[in-house]
Amino acid sequence: MPRITTTDIRNKKAKKEKITMLTAYDYSMAAMVDEAGIDMILVGDSLGNVMLGYENTLPVTMEDMVHHTKAVSRASKNAMVVADMPFLSYHISREEAVRNAGRLIQEGGAQSVKLEGGIERVDTVKAILDAQIPVVGHIGLTPQSVIQLGGFKVQGKDVETANRLIKDAKAIEEAGAFCIVMECVPTPLAKKISEEISVPTIGIGGGPYCDGQVLVINDMLGMFKGHIPKFVKKFANLEPIIMEALKAYKEEVEAGTFPAEEHGFSMKEEVLEKLY
Ligand code: KIV
Repeated sequence: MPRITTTDIRNKKAKKEKITMLTAYDYSMAAMVDEAGIDMILVGDSLGNVMLGYENTLPVTMEDMVHHTKAVSRASKNAMVVADMPFLSYHISREEAVRNAGRLIQEGGAQSVKLEGGIERVDTVKAILDAQIPVVGHIGLTPQSVIQLGGFKVQGKDVETANRLIKDAKAIEEAGAFCIVMECVPTPLAKKISEEISVPTIGIGGGPYCDGQVLVINDMLGMFKGHIPKFVKKFANLEPIIMEALKAYKEEVEAGTFPAEEHGFSMKEEVLEKLY
C-alpha cells in the first residue's frame, strides 16, 4: 500500500470517509499504529506531557521533536507522519519557521508539520507551504497558548469567540493547510466549521461531526496516570495490565523462579571441564 498523501486526506472529506489520526512518539508504538491502518501519525508535542513528564507542552524543544519524529518515521510505512512544531519554533520569524519545519522533514523524516493558531499564523503557514512542506493547522484550544488562555478550557462558547474561531478556520484554510485540528470546540460549532470549510477538520474534543478524529495514544490506551480529559475514550485499559506484569516480574526475580532453565544458554561440557 502506498503512503497516504495530502490528496488522499482531502479526498476522504469529499467522499465523506472519516479520517483517523493518533499520536505516537516512539518506534514500537508507531509501527503498531501504522499496521492498524491509521491514516496519519502525529508526533505531537504532547510528548512533553506523556513522554517527558512536563506539566505542559511549552518546554518541548526542536531537538525533542526531531528525535521522536525520527523514531516514528523509521516505523511508519503507510501512514502520513505529521510532526508538531514546538513552542517558539515558528513565532519569531518566517525564516526560522521554514528552517524548523524543514528540519522536521529533512532530519525527522515527516511528511508534514502542524502548527497552532489562526489568523495570526496565516503568513507563517504560507511561508512553510512556499518551501513545499504540507501544513496541518490547529485551532480552538491551542495548548501552547495555555498561559494566555488561562488553562485548558473549551473554546468558542460565546458569540465573539465562536465567530473568531470560524474566522481562524477560514483563514488557515485559505492560507493552504490541507487539514485543521480543532481541539475542545463545542460540537455544534465544530459541525458548522466542518460544513463551511473545504479542507478536512480533525477533532479532539470537537464532537462527532468533524471529518476525522485524533487522540493522544497513551490516553486512549489507558496508560497515562495524569489528568485524562472528558473527550477521551479509553479503548483499552493497559495500565493495570502493565502494573500486574511489573509486579509479577519483581516477585519472580525475588523468589528465584525467573529466569527458568529455558531462558538460559547452554555450553559444551568439554569446554566447561577445561576451565580453571
Ligand atoms: O500534541 C498533540 O498531541 C496534539 C493533539 C492534542 C492534537 O496536538
